[in-house]
Amino acid sequence: VDPFSPEAVRAAYDTVAEDYEAAFGDDIDRLPLERAMLDLAVATMPEGGRVLDLGCGTGSAGGHVAGVGAAVVGVDLSMGMLAVARSVVRLPVAQGDLRDLPFGDGSFGAVAAYYSIQHVPRPQVAVALGEVARVLRTDGALLVAAHLGDGDVHTEEFLGHRIAPVGGALYSAGELTAELARAGFAVTSAEQRGPLPHEYPSQRIFLLARRAA
Ligand SMILES: C[S@@+](CC[C@H](N)C(=O)[O-])C[C@H]1O[C@@H](n2cnc3c(N)ncnc32)[C@H](O)[C@@H]1O
Repeated sequence: VDPFSPEAVRAAYDTVAEDYEAAFGDDIDRLPLERAMLDLAVATMPEGGRVLDLGCGTGSAGGHVAGVGAAVVGVDLSMGMLAVARSVVRLPVAQGDLRDLPFGDGSFGAVAAYYSIQHVPRPQVAVALGEVARVLRTDGALLVAAHLGDGDVHTEEFLGHRIAPVGGALYSAGELTAELARAGFAVTSAEQRGPLPHEYPSQRIFLLARRAA
């Protein structure tokens, strides 16, 4: 099975969903930079917009955004992750692929893509960002959290489980900025942080971008 296929990604996250929540569910409370970037996305989106948590997983980013008063919907491939998001964070969710979103044009004021685009095969990241541009209103905000690095990585072990290989694409800040520009986004704010001890050992980048008319 292709490690970047929806089947591989879905199976991996279905396998680890409850352990993922146990390992990472509270992290947002310890990550002021994450919270500040989410708050900035919400504060600068067009008035009255809803927020899409793209690749919401167990819903930690969406849960934070809902906590500051925004209306949030989560979307993810993995029913296992969505079941946790629904029960723990009470996030309204839909199953879907971020390359073919089940939402109409201009449905959202902001999109938070928290550590999800790495599972899209590199040649298709433009398709995913095009979908984000489609479902965002003009001037809508896109916040991307991503792992910095070169090339692709694969793993067959995830939170203590043996899994069929699943892939992750690593990007430089320049590559991400260029992909965003190609999809019609201008970066307005960029921040980085190193990994927490229990996280994948990558430098992380947060890019807040605005969808041009
Ligand atoms: C590393 S987890 C991040 C989850 C959550 N955003 C967080 O920050 O904790 C990646 C999530 O992206 C989802 N995902 C990966 N590829 C996807 C795709 N093509 N469409 C929708 N969701 C996807 C996975 O199922 C998984 O829940």
